[in-house]
Amino acid sequence: MERDPQAHWLETETALHYARAAVRVGLWASERVFLDRYFAKDQRILELGCGGGRVALGLLRSGYADVTATDFSPIMVSLAKAVLADHDEAWERCVAQQDATALTYPDASFDRAIFAFNGLMCLPSRAHRLAALRSIHRVLKPDGILLFTASDREKGANAAYWAQEARPADVIPGDRWHESDTSPVFIHSSTEAETREELAETGFTVIECPLSTAVASDGPLVREFAGETRFYVARKA
Ligand SMILES: C[S@@+](CC[C@H](N)C(=O)[O-])C[C@H]1O[C@@H](n2cnc3c(N)ncnc32)[C@H](O)[C@@H]1O
Repeated sequence: MERDPQAHWLETETALHYARAAVRVGLWASERVFLDRYFAKDQRILELGCGGGRVALGLLRSGYADVTATDFSPIMVSLAKAVLADHDEAWERCVAQQDATALTYPDASFDRAIFAFNGLMCLPSRAHRLAALRSIHRVLKPDGILLFTASDREKGANAAYWAQEARPADVIPGDRWHESDTSPVFIHSSTEAETREELAETGFTVIECPLSTAVASDGPLVREFAGETRFYVARKA
């Protein structure tokens, strides 16, 4: 029977892993660089795939006042609420259940959006990624900015691993089930050209897209949690 690529995110053990990361790992040094550069403290920020609340907690503690953190997984939403409420009871209201591919917010609701730590690449297919990008594009204000990361299969630390992979002809390049601390997780690793094409197709213009290692020196906890990835900063065209 086919495995469901989204089932991993509905498991309690997975959600606990991300809730622990919210407390132990926090915002990455590289994420802070882009938040400082592109996100203002008074802007309306939408987070997609918030997991256990790692980014939302970091944003709220850093003084970003208007944060809406969302995830499609009910257990992630519950744990993110608990993590945020542990710091400030009022922050619990910042979390909502939303599927990134079908957001229900009105058009042009948010100044900024963030889909941290390869969340977009955890969607089951290119069609789902395009649906999410279109949905995010719709709820962003004109000139709104989306920040996200994608594991790169062509450049940087992961390139050698992908180069030696023997790919069955029927498997889409970059699609792969990876071992994790809990159950196997489906992730698509992209090339820069491929992700640029998906952004262009959905109405975004890339501002910059460096590898995380070129942005800041992330500490050992972050390196263990996330490894190297590529940041994308894209503007709603
Ligand atoms: C790799 S985790 C990252 C969690 C968190 N952003 C972090 O950095 O700790 C990916 C997250 O995307 C969420 N996700 C997967 N598919 C989604 C979808 N269709 N809509 C919204 N969130 C989704 C998962 O539930 C999970 O919380």
